[in-house]
Amino acid sequence: MEGEIEVKGSKNAALPAMAASLLFQDEVGFHNLPQIEDIFRMAELLAKLRRVGELDFEVAKKIRASILLVGPALARFGKITFPHPGGCVIGARPIDAFLDGWKAMGASVKEIPPDGVKSINSIPFYELSAPLGLKGCDYTFRVPSVTGTEGLMMSALLASGGTILKNAAMEPEIAHLADFLNKNGADIKGAGTHTISIEGRSGKPLSAKHPFSVPPDRIEAGSFLILGTLLAKELLIKNFVADELTALTAMLKESGAEFSLDKNFISVKRSPNLKAVDVKTKEYPGFATDLQAPFCVLATQSSGASMIHETIFEGRLSYIEYLNKMGAKITLCDPYRAIVNGPTPLRAWTLESPDIRAGLAFILAALLAEGESKIGNIYQIDRGYEAIDSRLRAIGADIRRV
Ligand code: EPZ
Repeated sequence: MEGEIEVKGSKNAALPAMAASLLFQDEVGFHNLPQIEDIFRMAELLAKLRRVGELDFEVAKKIRASILLVGPALARFGKITFPHPGGCVIGARPIDAFLDGWKAMGASVKEIPPDGVKSINSIPFYELSAPLGLKGCDYTFRVPSVTGTEGLMMSALLASGGTILKNAAMEPEIAHLADFLNKNGADIKGAGTHTISIEGRSGKPLSAKHPFSVPPDRIEAGSFLILGTLLAKELLIKNFVADELTALTAMLKESGAEFSLDKNFISVKRSPNLKAVDVKTKEYPGFATDLQAPFCVLATQSSGASMIHETIFEGRLSYIEYLNKMGAKITLCDPYRAIVNGPTPLRAWTLESPDIRAGLAFILAALLAEGESKIGNIYQIDRGYEAIDSRLRAIGADIRRV
C-alpha cells in the first residue's frame, strides 16, 4: 500500500460536543464532523429530544454515547427518561458512576424496573429529575470514566454553585470538550487532569460564539500507523497528532517499526523485522484500549511472544478466536490476557465484526492474509470510520463493499 491518507474528525470528541449543544440557548456550529453512523445516531437523538423529555429508546439502545445526552438534558430541562445505553459489546459497561454523580448533584434517580414490571419493550430504563435544578458538589469517581467525566462536567455547568470532580478521566476528548465550552463562556479548569473544577451557571445556558472544530481522531490515526507498519511501501498519514499517541509510538518503536514524525503528519513504511512486545491497556496517557485489537494483529506478524493485557474492559478479546482461525497462534489466558506467538502467515476467512475497533483489526488481518476474506456486520465499522473502503482503496487496498 502506498500514498497519503488523511485522519478524519474524532468520533469520541465530536459526540460529547454534539450533546453539549443542549447547554446552549442558540445554534452551535460544528466543523469537520466525521460522516459516520454514531454521529448520525447522535443527530437523530438530538432531533427527537426537541419534542419530548425522553431519549428515543430504539436509537439510544444502539450507541453507548446516548448517555452523553443525559447530563446536559437533565441540567437544561430538569428531567430526562432514557434506556440503559447500548453500544459495543465489550464488557458490562455499567453507568453507576454517572448515576451516583447526578444523585450527588441533587437529582432523584428512578431505575425501572426495580421489580421487572414497567420496562419498555423489556429494556431497563431510568427516570431522572431535578425540578429545582442541580446543585454543585464534590464528587470522586471510583473508576475514571471518560463519558462519565464528560457527562458530569456538562451537568455541573448549569448547576448552582461550583463542582469539583476528582479521579476524573484524563483523555484528550475531555480537554477538547472543556476548551469548546470555555470558548463559549464556561469556566472549567483542570480538564485533562484528574481534578476538574466547574463554575455552575445556575441554569443559565451558554450563548454560542465559537463553533466546535472537531480535532483529528487519535484512534483512527493510530490504526493507520499500525496499518502502515504492516503493509505500506510508503504511507503519509495527515492530521496525525503525535502528542496524543505517545504510548503507541513508544511501543511501535520498541517493536522495531520505522516511521518519521513531522508537525502534523507521519510517514511510515512496512517493517519486515518486527519484534514481539508486551502491551497493557491503560487510561490515557497509557496505551488506549481502542488500539488493542489492531495492535494484536501487528503482534501476529512480530517474532516472539507478545502478551496483550486488556485492563479496561472485560469482554474485549473475543475477536481473537477469529484471528486463530486465520492462522494466528494466540492463547487466551483469561478474559483479560492473551499471548500471541508470531510471526504467522494469515489466510483468508469469513469474519463478523464484533465491535468498531475489532472490525478495523479484521480489515488489517484480511489485508495481510493470503486470499479473499469477507467481513460481515460492517455497520459496526461504519459506526467509527468514515468511508473506510474507499479511503483504503485509494492507498492500494483491494477492498469493496458488497
Ligand atoms: C469511552 O467509553 C469511549 N467511548 C470508548 O470508545 C473507549 O473505549 C473508552 O472510553 C475507554 O477509553 C466514547 O468516548 C463515546 P469508560 P466509556 O466509562 O466512557 C468502568 C470506541 O470504540 N465504568 O471510561 O463508556 C467501565 O466498565 C469506544 O470508540 C464503571 O465501572 O468508557 C470500564 O471498565 C468503545 N462504571 C471503565 O470504567 C461506570 O459508571 C472505563 O470505561 C462507568 C464506567
